[in-house]
Formats: sequence, C-alpha cells, structure tokens
Amino acid sequence: MIFDFVDGGAQDESTVRENITSFDDWWLRPQVLNDVSLRDQSVKLFGQTMPTPLLLAPAGLAGLVWPRGEVAAAAAASKAGIPFAVSTASSCSIEEVRAAAKGLLWLQLYLWRDREVTGSLVDRAHNAGYDAICLTVDVPLSGSRERDLRNGMTIPPKIRTKNSLGVLRHPGWMIKMAGAPVTFANVSDGHRGRTLALGAYVNSQLNPSASWDDLRWLREKWSGTLIVKGVLDPIAAKRLADEGVDAVIVSNHGGRQLDGAIPAIAALPHVVNAVGGRIPVLMDGGVRRGSDVLKAVALGASACLFGRPYLWGLAVAGEEGVSRVIEILQTEIDRDLALLGTPTMAEIYGQADRLLMNSGRRTL
Ligand SMILES: Cc1cc2nc3c(=O)[nH]c(=O)nc-3n(C[C@H](O)[C@H](O)[C@H](O)COP(=O)(O)O)c2cc1C
Repeated sequence: MIFDFVDGGAQDESTVRENITSFDDWWLRPQVLNDVSLRDQSVKLFGQTMPTPLLLAPAGLAGLVWPRGEVAAAAAASKAGIPFAVSTASSCSIEEVRAAAKGLLWLQLYLWRDREVTGSLVDRAHNAGYDAICLTVDVPLSGSRERDLRNGMTIPPKIRTKNSLGVLRHPGWMIKMAGAPVTFANVSDGHRGRTLALGAYVNSQLNPSASWDDLRWLREKWSGTLIVKGVLDPIAAKRLADEGVDAVIVSNHGGRQLDGAIPAIAALPHVVNAVGGRIPVLMDGGVRRGSDVLKAVALGASACLFGRPYLWGLAVAGEEGVSRVIEILQTEIDRDLALLGTPTMAEIYGQADRLLMNSGRRTL
C-alpha cells in the first residue's frame, strides 16, 4: 500500500511512464578532445552556489516510508548542500524540519480555501527562516490514484481487510512506525475544533477556485523568493514571470495529477523559450540518471528536482539512504560530464542545439 502510494500516479499512469521514457527522445552528442580532467557540476540559483543542480522535491507524508521522514530527508539534503522542499502535507512540522537542517529549505504551499491557514503557513515559514516558497498550482483537486483506491489507502493510513495482509507482511515497517504516528503536522492548528478527520480536512482545503488573484495576494504577502511548481504551459509561464514570481518548475506532479499531461522533459524547452531567460526554469518528473540532468540543463533547466528516487532511499535507510541516492546521482553527473566532453554545467546550460539530438522516434 505504501509502495503503491509512492510509486503510483493518476489513472493509467501514462504520464508517470512518459516522464521517464521521454528522456530517451533526446540523444547526447559527446564533444571530443576537450580537457575534462577537472569537472565542476555546481550551478548558481538565486545568487547561491549549489554543488550540483539537484533538489529534493516536496513529497507529502514522507513519514509513511520512514519515521519522521522529512527530518531525515532534510538532514541529508543539508549535508549535500542542496535545497529540500518541505511539503505542506509533511508529517513533521516545518519548524521541526528547520531545527534539524541548517541548509536551504523551501516551503511547498497550496492556495487553500482558507486564506488564513495559507497565510499562517507563510508567516511560519518566514519566522522559521525558510529560504523560499514553492507554490504548487497543479492541484485544484486531487488526481485519481487508482492504486490507492484499490489498496484502501487513506490518509492517515488505516489497517483494513483490504490492506491487512500487506501490513502483516512488513513487520519491520510496523515496528519502525509504531513510535511515529503519521499525521499532517503543519495543519493541525487549522484542523483544531473541526469535526472532519485530518485527511478529509486537507482535501476540503484544496481550492478549485484558486486564481491569479490569489497568486497576486501571495506575491504581496511573501517578499522572499517565490517559485511556482506545476507549470507545463508556456503562456502561463510567461505570465508568471510578468507577475513577478522568481522561478517556475516545469512539472506534472510526477504524473500524479492529470494523466495524459505532457511529460515534463517535453514541456521544458517550450517553457524555457517562452520565459526567455527572465527567470530560472527548473523541472521535475522522471529524473532517474545523471544523464537526465544533463539533458534537462542542455534544454535550459537551471536545476532538477526529484521525488521518488529519494523516497526509495528513505524507505531503505532513512537519512543515510537519501544521502546515498544523492551521491549516486552526483557520481553519475560527474562521470557523464567527462563522457560528454563538457567539464562544467555552464558549458551545457542551454546548449541543446550542439549537445542534443532529437532521436526522431517521436516528433516533439
Ligand atoms: C509520494 C509523493 C508525494 C508527493 N507530494 C507532493 C506534495 O505534497 N506537494 C507537491 O507539490 N508535490 C508532491 N509530489 C510531487 C513531487 O514534488 C514531484 O513533482 C514528483 O515526485 C517528481 O517526479 P519523480 O517522482 O518522477 O521525480 C509528490 C510526489 C510523490 C511521489
């Protein structure tokens, strides 16, 4: 049940699959006889140097895979010097995560029905010294995740006939979880005194009427770095730059929202083109290899977020597991920089014409 919650996506999961396979639509064109003995994968984002163009994407209830999962992931990100985006739906409060990690932290936010609740999260992020707000705009309501329906997965999870066998087959998980009940730690205040269960409360806060006016309200309220996540449309991306957001993330929520939505790597060049260098463009969805990161950077991404890979690391070994996943990706990026004949990220950024060739399997 928990594996499916992480691995799965909306309906037929075609976007989940295409996010990954669409990286194969691009081939890399290695440069030769370049001195690649010294390599540097660092990039600059919002004036700060990051050791690698990687970030941990926001993932709600990471505490389902490892006790206090967000604290563990944040600690690993902090050690690696990369930002961690804490989900509004995290199982540890944003203050707990801040206390555990000295590094760069973003708060992922939704424009909820109750502006006061959204506003109080923004204030808390400010007070806790969060470095950026990452506003997710692709959840007017929740995507239909059929694996979860089939498994009787609810939030917080309950043991029922449908899933009891799976739970019993994972005694190690049960023991680990016994001391760390999973809850939406950030929203308990808003929930207090209400009759709805917490999961239902969070769902009831999703706001299909959120609009550009709400974005403007947030832009006025939060003067720090504001990033908008969940953009596939170039026209929307251009408008977001006009509205004064500081970056956009090309993302289809890892295929968990609209099934059939454009794979992130296919949408990326169009968004980059529309934004025209005014603000950084980041991307996530299907990043599994160092070479995926190089392709995204060549297509104009300033950095890539990734979700499921670090959740797998977290499930296996907590903080250490996340560190290992980051390390694997960094090692792959380093080797691929050499093999591509481009020792720095700056030499790759935006160089799709020279460094990539469309495989022609599909016309993009
Ligand atoms: C288990 C899980 C929970 C997620 N929860 C959130 C969330 O709370 N907020 C959000 O903006 N995105 C959420 N996402 C989407 C990720 O931030 C990211 O867009 C996606 O995982 C990228 O695709 P990848 O898993 O292929 O790397 C979640 C993804 C997963 C797998």
